[in-house]
Amino acid sequence: MAKQKHSARATAARVIADVVQKKQSLNAVLTVALPLLPDNERSLCQQLCYGVLRWHPQLNAISQQLLSKSLKEKDADIAALLLCGLYQLRDLRIPSHAAISETVNATKTLGKKWAKGLINASLRNYQRQQEEIDKKLQQSDSAHYAHPDWLIQSFKQDWPEQWQAILNAGNQQPPMMLRVNQQKESQQNYLTRLAEADIPATAITGCPEGILLDKPCDVYQLPGFTEGDASVQDGAAQQVASLLDLKSGLRILDACAAPGGKTCHILEHAPDNEVTALDIAANRLQQIQQNTDRLQLQATLIASDAADIDNWWDGQLFDRILIDAPCSGTGVIRRHPDIKLLRRADDIDSLDAQQKQLLNTLWPLLKPDGLLVYTTCSALKQENEHQIANFLHHHPEAQEIEASSAPANRRPFGYQRLPGDDNLDGFYYACLRHR
Ligand SMILES: C[S@@+](CC[C@H](N)C(=O)[O-])C[C@H]1O[C@@H](n2cnc3c(N)ncnc32)[C@H](O)[C@@H]1O
Repeated sequence: MAKQKHSARATAARVIADVVQKKQSLNAVLTVALPLLPDNERSLCQQLCYGVLRWHPQLNAISQQLLSKSLKEKDADIAALLLCGLYQLRDLRIPSHAAISETVNATKTLGKKWAKGLINASLRNYQRQQEEIDKKLQQSDSAHYAHPDWLIQSFKQDWPEQWQAILNAGNQQPPMMLRVNQQKESQQNYLTRLAEADIPATAITGCPEGILLDKPCDVYQLPGFTEGDASVQDGAAQQVASLLDLKSGLRILDACAAPGGKTCHILEHAPDNEVTALDIAANRLQQIQQNTDRLQLQATLIASDAADIDNWWDGQLFDRILIDAPCSGTGVIRRHPDIKLLRRADDIDSLDAQQKQLLNTLWPLLKPDGLLVYTTCSALKQENEHQIANFLHHHPEAQEIEASSAPANRRPFGYQRLPGDDNLDGFYYACLRHR
């Protein structure tokens, strides 16, 4: 195979094409592509990939107005490059002549010099007709709000008052948040250390270990990161551990644990707890291991489908079970904009079935009077309050209990934080006690 040439724009075009066409996850493709770029090109490439995918439904609607006919499937990279050009003109502080000429040059890097004229003419046409073209975006919700139609419909149905705010939150650039390791440091001390390192930050209200950075930075610039003094975690995810009513000496199952954010938070609360961390994705167990190693914590890691209990369970009941269930991720679109392209309407029924199976299979593994916490980073009722309502209907021995301090808005069952509420990720939480 011929060796590929690289530049921020050409690489971004290839990455975006892989997400759009091959339905690969942005994170997976970027992890391979970025190291092949010179250091000084990486940040622009990343910015283009996230930005274009974040605004894809809108940028795609613009490109359809600019192109007389759709590009062939084999030219998905050129289609993506055009979106990179549009994104630079609309959202980045790059002078437009440089944005256009560098985007045109990237056709050469992609080995498609024939597309030079097409990219050049399309971007210049956009500059000339921007007002008219942008006006037409109002005609479609998907183009206007930059989300897929099916998801806009679902949000409208579930949250008739809040759907626009949810969509708006999904288009924001996410803030970087930290969790201070309470075994080593207090929130207040760590804020002082950040200030000394010239990293402006504030405490997150309602998260005793949570810190919001004014601007994202490389984790290795964070004081004591390598030594495990802090970890990256959104404040909404930090509210899960305290729902487990943790104390010393508990036997705890974290059923869907990778990459281990909540496993580590649970252990930071009480390191002598016996935590079993399971995940179906064997390759993701490594990430849990790296996190527990860095934080100097101990958990038993098992690669298995949690619902296949014959494969992993030793027959002893648990005091606490956390099901941080596989879900649509519709609460964290600001962090994973590729969700807009990768998720489809019919995924929700299949996720619903997986969540049901995990709840039904793991519930009997809880000790009498034990506590099961069910969470998702979804904003859809089917995966959240409807899921728990259905579970309670079929399990009279289960009782939904109120958290001692509410992590989010109370719903008929559980608690829902909608995306962007308090500047945090969208999250659902429910606490179930075995009567
Ligand atoms: C929302 S993520 C978990 C995030 C993790 N709790 C944290 O805080 O870092 C859901 C995880 O569930 C895993 N998963 C999906 N289905 C599973 C199953 N049947 N059994 C075990 N793990 C599963 C996925 O591989 C994924 O890592």
